[in-house]
Amino acid sequence: MHDIIEQLERKRAAARLGGGQKRIDAQHAKGKLTARERLELLLDEGSFEEWDLFVEHRCVDFGMAENKVPGDGVVTGYGTINGRLVFVFSQDFTVFGGALSEAHAEKICKVMDQAMKVGAPVIGLNDSGGARIQEGVASLGGYAEVFQRNVMASGVVPQISLVMGPCAGGAVYSPAMTDFIFMVRDSAYMFVTGPEVVKTVTHEEVTAEELGGASTHTTRSGVADLAFDNDVEALLMLRRFFNYLPLNNREKPPVRPSIDPADRTDLSLDTLVPDNANKPYDIKELILKVVDDGDFFELQPDYARNIVIGFGRMDGRSVGIVANNPMVLAGCLDIKSSIKAARFVRFCDAFSIPVITFVDVPGFMPGTSQEYGGIIKHGAKLLYAYAECTVPKVTVITRKAYGGAYDVMSSKHLRGDVNLAWPNAEIAVMGAKGAVEIIFREDKGDPAKLAAREAEYKARFANPFVAGARGYIDDVIQPHETRKRICRSLAMLKDKKLDNPWRKHGNIPL
Ligand code: HXC
Repeated sequence: MHDIIEQLERKRAAARLGGGQKRIDAQHAKGKLTARERLELLLDEGSFEEWDLFVEHRCVDFGMAENKVPGDGVVTGYGTINGRLVFVFSQDFTVFGGALSEAHAEKICKVMDQAMKVGAPVIGLNDSGGARIQEGVASLGGYAEVFQRNVMASGVVPQISLVMGPCAGGAVYSPAMTDFIFMVRDSAYMFVTGPEVVKTVTHEEVTAEELGGASTHTTRSGVADLAFDNDVEALLMLRRFFNYLPLNNREKPPVRPSIDPADRTDLSLDTLVPDNANKPYDIKELILKVVDDGDFFELQPDYARNIVIGFGRMDGRSVGIVANNPMVLAGCLDIKSSIKAARFVRFCDAFSIPVITFVDVPGFMPGTSQEYGGIIKHGAKLLYAYAECTVPKVTVITRKAYGGAYDVMSSKHLRGDVNLAWPNAEIAVMGAKGAVEIIFREDKGDPAKLAAREAEYKARFANPFVAGARGYIDDVIQPHETRKRICRSLAMLKDKKLDNPWRKHGNIPL
């Protein structure tokens, strides 16, 4: 018996070495951790239960029958993050470049299936050369099995991808279907076709980093949510991020007791909005002053900066925050910001996370580039997302709420539960200047008359009381009491129940 136990330990130790010390050293030389080191940092100490350490591929072509590494290039299993269950897979670049074989895919599918059965999130650490070239179609089949599970798990358990190395070809489509993608700067890249194919087909010369590095995907394409400087930072931030999420769609979001009083007021908010309605101010200052302990986990901070999204807590409970940002494009809604916010609202709705919306929006962005790009369809995504959303929705209009954008931004008409406005709010079809130029076109040659009309329009409509008189705004509040009012609203909404009519699924304008 003693021999057998020793044999097992030897087998385990050999398997844990993956592709061998030389390749581990090469991985370290690139500034990357190994698949196992990454899991050690991500999960609570000693919590990892590994599965399928002895799985091997079944390929016999190209000398592969003699070239087997136990585990087959991916470490899978489950563990905990701050005591909460999570299923994980971590691709091992030291084994065939982390390339995905049929057996490798089966290991990933096994943890995904189990996560669905018990209702726990799945985190994938991606570091892979893509389809295992020696296996051909068996590998492609493996990918499709993973894709299918990504789709079935969507909206049931949270799925997070942390891309820590190459991720090319169809391999990008599994992360693309997960809820959040984080990337590591300088070592991670994602593209459908690499720089060499790009050069052949389109004659463009581009580096891998320019084509699909972390900066590209967090600033230009919006494919990724956040970029981090190295593996350690990315893994530690992922642990922090995990704390905001429920484990599945049947669970309420986690509560983290806070000593920040729910009725805390902040007088500095009374002067946050400048007197001049055309002057910008930083909406993030409001967010930080309202959430528990000034702790806000922003997503996509460098993409479509005219809208801010992210998670915070109010009176201990996770909330999703969406806010127009007057500092960028005056907070206008455009194609990118609509898509960014719509996807976030849908995530919150799927996982019972209340949505708080801070509104300061002059309207949809005008112009040919927006119209030709399909702002009608893409803006409608945000409208659709808010309208189908059944979680508690609390809206605070801090300044402008004009036109269609007023309707879209979690208005009363889209089943906003509590809609509040600051006293300086302007809720109208459009700004006073534009409005009088249209309805008093005959006064165009008379600037003094036009100015008088503008002042009249402003006095009549540039306030929250017209909307308040119709009950579209539940109350006009002092800015300094914003946190208190939101916390009370959320407490009132804690057991909100609202169902949409039965249907197979809606048809969001994709
Ligand atoms: C098998 C692979 C592999 C692959 C890398 N390796 N990619 N083995 N299948 N796809 C092996 C290498 O042979 C090498 O083995 C080890 O991994 C490390 O690779 P290197 O090239 O030495 O590393 P590096 O220089 O860092 O380059 C990494 C790389 C490059 C950029 C990922 O290996 C590469 O371009 N690989 C091919 C990528 C690719 O075209 N994949 C298919 C995409 S199509 P040794 O034994 O020397 O350590 C696809 C379709 C999916 O994925 C469709 C789904 C629908």
